[in-house]
Amino acid sequence: MKLTKEQINFVNNLLNKMTLEEKIGQLTQDSPSIVGGFDISFDELVEMLTDGRISQTEFNKKITNVKRDYHEDDIRNGFVGAVMGNDPKKANELQKIAVEETRLGIPLLIGFDVIHGLRTVYPIAIAEAGSFDDELMQKTASIAAKESRAYGINWNFAPMIDVARDSRWGRVSEGPGEDPYLSSRFATAKIKGLQGDQSSSNNYVAACTKHFVGYSACEGGRDYNTTTMSTNTLFNVYLPPFKAAMNAGACSAMAAFNDLNGIPCTVNSYTLRNILKDEFGLNGFVVSDANAIKECVNHGIAENDIVAGEMAINAGLDMDMGTRIYLNHLASSIKNGTVSMDVLDDAVKRVLSVKVWLGLFENPYIDEKIIEQYDCAIPKEHINICKESAEKSLVLLKNEENILPLDKNKKFTLVGSLADSPDEVTGSWALGFKSKDCVSIKKGLENSNANFDYYPICGPNTSINSSELDSAINSDSDIIVAVVGELKSMSGEASSKANLILPGQQREMLASLLRANKKVIAILMNGRPLALGWEKENLKAIIEGWHLGIQMGNAISSALFGDINPSGKLSCTFPSVNGQEPLYYNHTSTGRPASNSKFTSKYVDTPLEPCFPFGYGLSYTTFKYDSLTLKETPSSVNVTFNLSNTGKRPGTETVQLYIQDVTASIVRPIKELKGYKKVSLQPGESQTVTLTLDKSEMGFYNNMGQYVLENGLFKIYVGGNSKDTLVSKININF
Ligand code: GLC
Repeated sequence: MKLTKEQINFVNNLLNKMTLEEKIGQLTQDSPSIVGGFDISFDELVEMLTDGRISQTEFNKKITNVKRDYHEDDIRNGFVGAVMGNDPKKANELQKIAVEETRLGIPLLIGFDVIHGLRTVYPIAIAEAGSFDDELMQKTASIAAKESRAYGINWNFAPMIDVARDSRWGRVSEGPGEDPYLSSRFATAKIKGLQGDQSSSNNYVAACTKHFVGYSACEGGRDYNTTTMSTNTLFNVYLPPFKAAMNAGACSAMAAFNDLNGIPCTVNSYTLRNILKDEFGLNGFVVSDANAIKECVNHGIAENDIVAGEMAINAGLDMDMGTRIYLNHLASSIKNGTVSMDVLDDAVKRVLSVKVWLGLFENPYIDEKIIEQYDCAIPKEHINICKESAEKSLVLLKNEENILPLDKNKKFTLVGSLADSPDEVTGSWALGFKSKDCVSIKKGLENSNANFDYYPICGPNTSINSSELDSAINSDSDIIVAVVGELKSMSGEASSKANLILPGQQREMLASLLRANKKVIAILMNGRPLALGWEKENLKAIIEGWHLGIQMGNAISSALFGDINPSGKLSCTFPSVNGQEPLYYNHTSTGRPASNSKFTSKYVDTPLEPCFPFGYGLSYTTFKYDSLTLKETPSSVNVTFNLSNTGKRPGTETVQLYIQDVTASIVRPIKELKGYKKVSLQPGESQTVTLTLDKSEMGFYNNMGQYVLENGLFKIYVGGNSKDTLVSKININF
């Protein structure tokens, strides 16, 4: 976030006019409370929507006639600096109070969780990162920014860029997978998309990168659990995407719930001040996660709310989300000297800077005409980009005997209740979509005039309907397309699972169909890597469909019939069985690397290899890599190889470049992704591809948090996934 000299002066002049109460008000993010009877609290209702226990339609019905208290008087008195919500008319109302009825007229930030689209919901991050298409990831974010502004939102609690290595953690669905490099490119694309188009205040929002930091390393994959890691792991694995986001100019960050090496991120001055603000250069602000300041008492780091608030603001936590601890106690902390006015002023300046950068002082209100435009129909361009993102994010995992693509005219049988569950396509954290926009897989097949009969039989949380199973078994087609996976409520926040196999009786359904000599093709709808050892062994074909967003049905149909050639790759490793987690490709060698001999690092009851490796994805054609050569220049290594399309269809391959620092002052991963590129080839076509490896990226952080480049032998790998690669060696003297 860059401010002009005038803008900086404006902020400083405004600060000098503010009273202590007005300053503290700017550090308070408030949410509406419910007035009147509710069999459950509003927060619980939002959680039920977030985790899919109720649909958007049910949620809207429940809250339509209940009165909510937006604490207008607190806004009028200048006690609130930010609110949460996606109701455009209400946004203008509250903004009007802040701008026209407070003493200084400071506009509100209006924040909301727009993680992968608002009205136009595109693929969940773990899927979209698998497109390896930075330009596309930026485009979808820019759609989210435009729709956010139209709905009154000027601050997105996104992108979520937690590198995740343990699929038991439900929030793997929200982030870009297990690799720091891919996650860094994802982060950069998202910040550019959300913040980049400042041609009009209708086109950009302030991003809020989250969750800072190490939240995804929660022990046992249990959400909110403790995290402990070495300095080199923190800097080499979990920090890189945040550094990339700050380099791209992210306006804000959200501190994570977890304690990191004994200090909760909410009150961790080492991570918030030393790293995020001083080293990475955040000149915007840090907001807590919901209720997190209060939860520092539960953590056992603060004996009460007052101390928690003092520790947080002193640690560099600028804005309080939802507890009102700053509002209620900071004034006395200032007066008794526990918190200095300099600390307070720095926090307030950071918040005001983002508001100035957003242009809120000039354009605080939403143009009500724009609301009509978005509220009736989604612009065609948004649909097209959303569908393209869905098509490029799905992954072809298995295709035995090239059973796919199917012939559209040949009859097949569709099974699985997920196939006809339109709302399920959006995945977790989709809070602004309309059910009528959602294309289920069954609807997508109907849109393609496919020839099929349909039996739901069972889903993630329903048992097998035996008569429907019998009908499917007795149907006159020998090909079964089975849509199986998770409900969107089974991933996302507070959705950690100890069991990663297909939930419910879905695997039993598949087995029954196989026993009837059916050829079974699975389309997966899931928010995390599942343990697919049995499915990989027994099914004819598998497409990883993730939760691809509102165009999922059309994208899956395009892939099923070959209207598109799948090009997506996995942004994360899939286990065969649960117990392999945490599981990721960029692990260290150990002194006894896994092998068939007994005394090596492995499980005696699972295969040595993961079910599907990071970066893996098939195509309807085949690609061949050969002639790898390396050419060193003073600042880089040019990695050149030949790529051929050895199949019968045009296709796009994501070529991947990995390195290994073979011997270093601390043990390094056996492979680290350091480059990728999408290459499209016609059948029979070959292309010489060169990826340039910048030598400055061949280093690592040591246990003092210093970035070092160490001379020595490097292995350079290229391939279509992290396992099947060509390799060459080079000695580097930096
Ligand atoms: C939640 C999530 C965070 C989200 C915030 C506001 O608990 O941890 O990602 O942005 O609250 O909804």
